Amino acid sequence: MCGIVGYIGSKNCVPIILEGLRRLEYRGYDSAGIAVIRDDKFFIQKNAGKVADLAAALGKADGSLFSHVGMGHTRWATHGEPNDVNAHPHWDQKKQIALVHNGIIENYLAIKTKLLRDGHVFLGATDTEVLAHLIGVMFDECGDLATAVRLALSEVQGTYGIVVISPRDPQRIVAARRGSPLLIGVGDGENFVASDASAIVSHTRQVLYLDDGEIADVTCDHVRTMTIEDVDTQKTVHEVTLELSQIERGGFDHFMLKEIHEQPQTIHDAMRGRLLVDEGDVKLGGLQNTLGRLLSARRLILTACGTSWHAALVGEYMLEQIARIPTEVEYASEFRYRDPVINVDDVVLLISQSGETADTLSALRDAKSKGATVLGIVNVVGSSIARESHGGVYVHAGPEIGVASTKAFTSQLTVLALITILLARARGMARERGQVLARELASLPEKVDAVLSDTSTIQQIAREFKDARNFLYLGRGSNFPVALEGALKLKEISYIHAEGYPAAEMKHGPIALIDRNMPVVFIVPRDGIYEKVISNIQEVRARKGRIIAVANEDDSEIDKMAEFVIRVPHTYGFFGPILNIIPLQLLAYYMAVERGTNVDQPRNLAKSVTVE
Ligand code: G6P
Repeated sequence: MCGIVGYIGSKNCVPIILEGLRRLEYRGYDSAGIAVIRDDKFFIQKNAGKVADLAAALGKADGSLFSHVGMGHTRWATHGEPNDVNAHPHWDQKKQIALVHNGIIENYLAIKTKLLRDGHVFLGATDTEVLAHLIGVMFDECGDLATAVRLALSEVQGTYGIVVISPRDPQRIVAARRGSPLLIGVGDGENFVASDASAIVSHTRQVLYLDDGEIADVTCDHVRTMTIEDVDTQKTVHEVTLELSQIERGGFDHFMLKEIHEQPQTIHDAMRGRLLVDEGDVKLGGLQNTLGRLLSARRLILTACGTSWHAALVGEYMLEQIARIPTEVEYASEFRYRDPVINVDDVVLLISQSGETADTLSALRDAKSKGATVLGIVNVVGSSIARESHGGVYVHAGPEIGVASTKAFTSQLTVLALITILLARARGMARERGQVLARELASLPEKVDAVLSDTSTIQQIAREFKDARNFLYLGRGSNFPVALEGALKLKEISYIHAEGYPAAEMKHGPIALIDRNMPVVFIVPRDGIYEKVISNIQEVRARKGRIIAVANEDDSEIDKMAEFVIRVPHTYGFFGPILNIIPLQLLAYYMAVERGTNVDQPRNLAKSVTVE
């Protein structure tokens, strides 16, 4: 989704901003722009397309552009199509301020109507341009940039992370946040603003995270933060631990492939220091203060979006079947508007890679306001969900750059498995059983490594089916969510229509789709319902569907039934999804490569969806 980077200091801001924008490309965007102040005037360049197009246009316009203050933006269209005019930055009627904005101004039409009556002329269709005009009006009235931003924002409903600059006051950048992440990078005689630490980490690791409702008035050697009511706020400087190598491709063709291959390590990292194999138990520091409430919870509610929601579905199987705790799963986008019945003895677990997904954050706030304990299972350290939860567990997968989530998913599953063992033991599960589960979990990185070591069958399948128009993914039990996730991966990056279904439900609809052109992926480990899934395979065979099976290494029966078999090592049923999803990630990846799509930045998708 949209990205922001800003700079003020003694260096030339242009290459710093362009580099920052490149680092934000992974979030998904459709246009990009930059505004700098030079000789007390704006220089603004913006266009539909990629950051490379922006850099080329800048080179043509003024190859020697030099400025000490400026900002850039990558836009993911919400209001108005992705074209040059709607790209950010936007400016006000008198072109005295420029603005970049992430989020949505909900009451922009009402503000626009009023401004139109006052004679304002708008160039494009965005809500952001309306906000720029409003700030311009306030700036005219008060003459102080930070005050103008404050006054304008007090009239605004919606979400924003914004940065504002003005040639009338070129010594400052004003930034503000509500619902859309923004941080200040603190340097030596220079300061940065960014929506994501990766944009500035090559320059500074010292950051201040703005909270909702905060405004920052930033000069090259000072940062003042305040509320919208102009009350000063106190901030703590955090050290960002992100390594540059973590946000670079490091020899892989795509970030997605790199992240798929990182999984033996990331799954291990999610367990490190937490899984106590000998004791058959788990220690999770982030849950220490809320463990009592977790143990006395009447039910757990898991809520999330996208791939994280699929992790929640797997979590439901683990938590109910191993820890025997009633568990419900719901899309955060539905949860937030359903006015669900939440009791003070409910515990709501929010699962989010980014920790910034607008719907998930909103569900958190709703549950919290109703008195529930809210816990985050989050990847990005210091993100909004992490900060607003009563406690939680970081999944420690490291930065995930590919838009299609892979390693974050398996780390979320690993953490859910840890929470399951922790709760099961605390609720009386025998140490011996805990040891079996812990040992099995600890063996997973090695097994994932085995799956990754030979991808030749998967590549062959991708070549064979690259022109398919539909795919069906079927699984049962906790492999049903794996089917959903496998189908989602394929849709996201190859644009092939794919559906995930519980294998037994196929008879109630999808079976009508099966003919000799329909590839059907079955996840069929040798577990308690193996025979049932085999029956479903027979049903597809009888209708000439083409069968691809993800099956265990020791399963010789499956060769007789499937056209292609992808082998995975055997593992304990409940942890199977952590292993079984790996070949499906790879299948989606190689299909996308065969079809020549943009694997890391698929069309229309965003990495972190910070709007509703
Ligand atoms: C977007 C991403 C998905 C992700 C979903 C939820 O749609 O493209 O990969 O699963 O958001 O994101 P979260 O950061 O909350 O896990």
